[in-house]
Amino acid sequence: MKLGGSVITDKRRPRTAREGLIRELMQRLVGWEGRLILVHGGGSFGHYEARRVGSLEEGVTRVREAMHELVGVMERAAVEAGVRVYALPPAVLLRSVNVVVEVLERGCVPMLYGDVVPAGDGFRIMSGDEILERLAVLRVDRVGFGMDVDGVYPERPGVGEPFKELTPGEARALAERLEGAAGVDVTGGIAEKLRRAARIAEAGVEVLLFDASDPDNVDRFLRGERVGTRVVRRD
Ligand code: IPE
Repeated sequence: MKLGGSVITDKRRPRTAREGLIRELMQRLVGWEGRLILVHGGGSFGHYEARRVGSLEEGVTRVREAMHELVGVMERAAVEAGVRVYALPPAVLLRSVNVVVEVLERGCVPMLYGDVVPAGDGFRIMSGDEILERLAVLRVDRVGFGMDVDGVYPERPGVGEPFKELTPGEARALAERLEGAAGVDVTGGIAEKLRRAARIAEAGVEVLLFDASDPDNVDRFLRGERVGTRVVRRD
C-alpha cells in the first residue's frame, strides 16, 4: 500500500507533514496480522526540494535529506504506534526485491519511499508508484494507491462520480485522455498512476486507487473490501 505525498504531507507548505493523520494511519496498521509492504511519496518534502534544485546531480543530497526527514516522521509514528516498520531506500530494488522479502520474513513492515536513485551517469527519481509496480512481482494479494481523492474520475476529481471499476484497457485509455491534466508533479500524476495500475492488473493483481486520508479506508483496503476505484483484469 502506498500512502501518497498528498496524504501524509501538506503540499502547499514546504516540508510539512500531517503528523496527526500519520499517527492515525499507523494506528490502523497495528492490529493487521497479514503481511504488508508500505510505500510513501514525497509530497512537500521530496517534490518541493526536487523542484528547487537545479539538477538531481547537484541536489541529490538536499532532496534525499528532505526525504529522510519525512521517513523519520513516519518511523517515529510507527514506533509510537508499535508498528515494526523497517525503512529501506528504494535503490535496493535496482538489484532485486530480496531484501524486502527478508524483512517481511522477520515479521516487519518494509517501508520504501520515493527517492533519488542512480541512473545512467547520474540520478533520477524513483516514485512511490514505480516502487509499487516493482513490488507487484512478489505474489501480493492486492496493491493500493492511497491518494487524497476517493478514486479515479472521468474528468477531474469532484466532478461527477469516481469509477467503481476499470479494466487495464480502460485504465490505459483514460490515462491517454487525462495526460497532463493533473498539474505540476515531478513524477507524473494520475495518468502515470493509471498506466502503472493497468500493468499491475494485467499481471493478475487487483489494484485499488482510494482515498487514504480517511483512515477507515485503510482498514477497508487491508480487509480486502472494495474501496475507491478498482482496476482488475476480467478474464
Ligand atoms: C517523489 O515520490 C519522491 C521525490 C520527489 C524525491 P512520489 O512521486 O511517489 O511522491 P508523491 O506521492 O507524488 O508525493
